[in-house]
Amino acid sequence: MMERATAQRFLDAVARRAAIRLLEPRDFNTRLMEHGPIAIDHLLAVYGDEPELADHVTAIFATALEGQAHRPPALLARDTERSAGRGWHLGHDVIGAWAYLDRFCGTLPSLHDHLGYLDELGITYLHLMPLFARPAGPNDGGYAVSSFRHIHPPLGTMEDLRRVAEALHRHGVALAIDLVFNHTADDHTWALAAKQGSPADRACYLTFDTEGETAEYQRNLRQIFPDEKPGSFVYSADLEQWVWATFHSYQWDLNYRNPEVFRRMLSETLFLANIGIDVLRLDAVPFIWKEPGTTCENLPQAHTIVRALNALVRIAAPATIFKSEAIVHPDDVRSYLGTDEPDGRECELSYDPLLMVEAWEALATGHTHLLRQSMATRFVIPQRTAWVNYVRSHDDIGWGFADEDATAVGIDGFWHRMFLNRFYTGEEPGSFSRGVPFQVNPATGDARVSGTTASLAGLERAMLRGDDLQVELAIRRILLLYGLAIATPGIPLLNLGDEIGTLNDHTYLYDPERSHDSRWIHRPSFDWERANRRHIPASIEGSIFGPLTHMLRVRRSLAVFAAGSAYRPLDSGNPHVYLAEVADGAVVVVANFTADRQDITVAGNRTWRDALTAEPRTPAMTLAGYELLWLVPTPETVEATTPGP
Ligand code: GLC
Repeated sequence: MMERATAQRFLDAVARRAAIRLLEPRDFNTRLMEHGPIAIDHLLAVYGDEPELADHVTAIFATALEGQAHRPPALLARDTERSAGRGWHLGHDVIGAWAYLDRFCGTLPSLHDHLGYLDELGITYLHLMPLFARPAGPNDGGYAVSSFRHIHPPLGTMEDLRRVAEALHRHGVALAIDLVFNHTADDHTWALAAKQGSPADRACYLTFDTEGETAEYQRNLRQIFPDEKPGSFVYSADLEQWVWATFHSYQWDLNYRNPEVFRRMLSETLFLANIGIDVLRLDAVPFIWKEPGTTCENLPQAHTIVRALNALVRIAAPATIFKSEAIVHPDDVRSYLGTDEPDGRECELSYDPLLMVEAWEALATGHTHLLRQSMATRFVIPQRTAWVNYVRSHDDIGWGFADEDATAVGIDGFWHRMFLNRFYTGEEPGSFSRGVPFQVNPATGDARVSGTTASLAGLERAMLRGDDLQVELAIRRILLLYGLAIATPGIPLLNLGDEIGTLNDHTYLYDPERSHDSRWIHRPSFDWERANRRHIPASIEGSIFGPLTHMLRVRRSLAVFAAGSAYRPLDSGNPHVYLAEVADGAVVVVANFTADRQDITVAGNRTWRDALTAEPRTPAMTLAGYELLWLVPTPETVEATTPGP
C-alpha cells in the first residue's frame, strides 16, 4: 500500500489544486489517511497503464473532496454517528422493505402520509425502486436512467427526495435507492452528447465500428433478455456504431476502462449521498468490466472498481454504504461483499438470492436437503457485511443454486431447474402455484419465473377455486418463507404488498410497453382497500399481516439475529424439516416444508419455548403442516448447561 506520508502529500496537493474547503483537519485526516491510500492502490490496479494517470487520479480525488465539501451539516453529523461502532446495518433491529414508489403511494410528497404504515410494520430501512428521469417509452421500470440528477417528473423533484430522506431519518428509517451502475439510458445526458458528436461522451460507452468486432465477445456472453433482444449489442444510427447493451437495447453499458467514467459515476454517487441516501444498491454490478475471451461477468477489475469507489465514499460521505445486486453463482454473489482486510471493503450489503431460491425450492419439493447443503456451505460472509434476506424482489426468480450443491445431494441441476420452472408455472401435477414464465431461452432450455409471493405460494389458485383449506395452506406457506428469512442473521426485507397477500396482476398484458415483460405481473399497485382489512384477523389480509408483524416484533427482541451471528443448519433426521441454529443454539429455527405433520427430535438435553407463540416444546415434537418455530432454550436449561465460573 502507498506510504502514508506520500499519500498525505498527494492528497493535500489535490485539495489545494481543487481549492476545496475540507472538513475539520482531525476528521479529514483520519478518514483520508485511512481510506485515501486504499483508493489510490485500487485505482492504480485498474488504471495504472493510463497515459495521463496522475491527472485522472487527481481529478477523481478532487471529485471526492468536492463531494465532501458540499455535504450538508446534518449529513456530516450522520457520518460521524454512523462511522462509530460496528455499523448500523449489522443490527438485529434493522427491518427492511421495498416498493415502487408510484405503485405504493404515487409520489414522493405523498410518502409522508404513509410513514405510519411503515411504522406499524417496524420498517427501519426503505428501498425505493428507481426514481430518476427515464425515457418516455420503454424504460425497464426506471432502470434506464436519463439523469441521476433529476427525478422522474410524475414522482416529484430532487428537493422532494431530500425532504423524504430527512423525514425518514427523523423516523429512524434508512433510505436505499438504486445506483444503476452498469448502464445509462440511451437518452442520458452523456449518451445524447455522444450522439451529437462529443468524443469525450462517446468514450463513456463501449462502441464498435463493425458487428464483426462484437462477435469475439458475443460468443462467450450470457443473454439476459433473450426473449426481447438476442445478443448484447445494438446498432446506433446516430453513432454509426455498435454499442454494448447487456440488458435492453436502450440501456447502454458504461465503459469503466475509461477513468473519466469512474470519476463521473463517483460524482453521481456523492451527489446522491449528499441528498441523504443511506444505501446505494449497485445495480447489475457483475457486468461492469469486459475482457475478450471471458464471460464479462464478475471479473476482478469489477471488484477493484467497487472497492475504489467504496474507499472514496468512506472519505467523502461515510454514512452511505453499498448493497450489491449480483444474481450470479452463489460464490460470485458472496464475492461482492469483499473481505475483512482493510483494503477488501466492497459492498456492505448483498441480497442473498440463494436463501430465497432454496426456500422456494424446498417448498416445491417438500425436501430440505438442498436448502440445508447451500446454507451450510455458503452463508459465512465478512464480519462487516450483512445479507439482505428476502422472499420476493421486483425481478424474476432464476434458480441460481450452485450445481455443486445439487450434485452433493444427488440432484441434477439442469433438470431440477426445469422441474422448478414447471412447478411454479403450474404445469407440474400437484403444483399449487400460478407463476408465469420469464425469458424462456429455447436454445439453452433456460427460463425463469415471475409471480407475486402469494400467487406463487398458492393463494391465487386457492381463491379462484374457493378452496378454504388451500387458502389456509397458502397463507402458512407465505408465513413459512417469511419466517425463515426473518429468522436468518442479516436484514430481513419485506416486499410491500406481501403482508396483505397481494396476488398477480394480469393487467400488464394490456399495456403494450409492458406486455412483453412478465415481471410486471408481480409489480401491482398497492391495494390500500385490502390493506384496510389488515386488522381483521379472520380476513386473508389480517391472517398474514398479523402473524408477520408479530414475527418482526419478536425478531427485534432477539439480538442474536444481528448480522455476523453464527448460523448452522442441523440434521433434523427428517428430510422434510429444516433445522438451523443461530448463535450456537440461542435460537433454533424449525420449518416443516410440507402440508403434512412431521415428527422430529431436536438433539441435546435442553427444553424449549417457541419464541413466536411462547409455548413450551419438548425436544421430541410433532409439527403441523408448514409449521415454523423459533425455539429458544428455557431459562432452566440455559442455567443447567451454562458452565460455572
Ligand atoms: C437489475 C434490475 C432489473 C433490471 C436490470 C437492468 O437486474 O434488478 O430490474 O432489469 O438490472 O437494469
